[in-house]
Amino acid sequence: MAKEIYNFSAGPSTLPKSVLVEAAEEMCSYKGSGMSVMEISHRSKLFETILEEAKEDFTKLYQIPAEYEILFLQGGGSTQFAMIPLNLMKNKKADYIVTGQWAKKAFQEGQVFLDARKALSSEDKSFSYIPDLSAFSVRPDSDYVYICENNTIYGTAYSSLPDTQGVPLVSDISSSLLSKPLDVTKYGLLFGGAQKNLGPAGVTIVIIRKDLIPEETLIPVPTMLKYKTHADSNSLYNTPPVYSIYIAGKVLKWLLSLGGLSVMEKINQEKAALLYDYLDQSKLFYGTAEKDSRSVMNVTFLPKDPALTDVFLDEAKEAGLVNLKGHRSVGGIRASLYNAMPIEGVKTLVQFMEQFEARYNK
Ligand SMILES: Cc1ncc(COP(=O)(O)O)c(C=O)c1O
Repeated sequence: MAKEIYNFSAGPSTLPKSVLVEAAEEMCSYKGSGMSVMEISHRSKLFETILEEAKEDFTKLYQIPAEYEILFLQGGGSTQFAMIPLNLMKNKKADYIVTGQWAKKAFQEGQVFLDARKALSSEDKSFSYIPDLSAFSVRPDSDYVYICENNTIYGTAYSSLPDTQGVPLVSDISSSLLSKPLDVTKYGLLFGGAQKNLGPAGVTIVIIRKDLIPEETLIPVPTMLKYKTHADSNSLYNTPPVYSIYIAGKVLKWLLSLGGLSVMEKINQEKAALLYDYLDQSKLFYGTAEKDSRSVMNVTFLPKDPALTDVFLDEAKEAGLVNLKGHRSVGGIRASLYNAMPIEGVKTLVQFMEQFEARYNK
């Protein structure tokens, strides 16, 4: 028996145990077919049902109105950095709020295709905060306003949305996907890779207002990079990542069985509060994100003596608390508390930190 571990990875990340157990039971014979989901046609009735139910469950969880399309795409969040300008541009202008490396990458990709304006940025303080949104003014002829709502690397998150004056809001929710309810109607497009809160890497969810899917793109766009291609074919234009969608479907059912996104949000807030409350009174550790910008999903922190970072990571690993190392670009410590992280995992982490502090804070 492998020893019990808690996996704080930022992605790919921990998944609900019950989902993994069910998938293991069905591995060699899905619904009595004698075959794994990986071995059946994506055009079979069995897989069609998986895809349809995943769409229905997404619609229920986010209360997605009929004017929106849900697409199951490939290429990760990073491919969206290009698909968004390629499909949404009409005036060849877009405003970006740059709050971290992922938003910056999206901004740089936007610059390849259009006049991308960096409207606000928090790079001056190592992306440790979300800029004051009252300072944001949209260019009225912008094709969209781009934000990254949860900044995985820096542990920051938006607590409100910019006023876009009717210009479509595009949001990267890769690391906060399905972590709380949101009002889909406030957005033109939402997207996120599955590998944090939804399932294995390989599938990317795009929720897009149907009127933003162009019949004709402004410039020639490869078939696979057109939203229309995937919307017209029910995300079955080519072979989709069948196993990723199958696991995602199970995670969606797990969320529904918990009571939906309001329940999930409460649990997530409770978990994050345990860790932030401890950090705020600790004499050894401190949180690196500004308090009013803190993420509920990714908690970033440091020991006051930087030399203790590696000691902490090694000892934590030994205690079964794994993947706590911060992103390679910033270092430090990061605990990702995605949906599937049980509250016991956070309690165990805080307890371990208290003991570590008692030993090292001399
Ligand atoms: C917020 C955010 N956006 C985009 C990405 C890039 O996603 P992908 O690796 O699926 O391209 C990541 C990856 O961690 C992320 O955290």
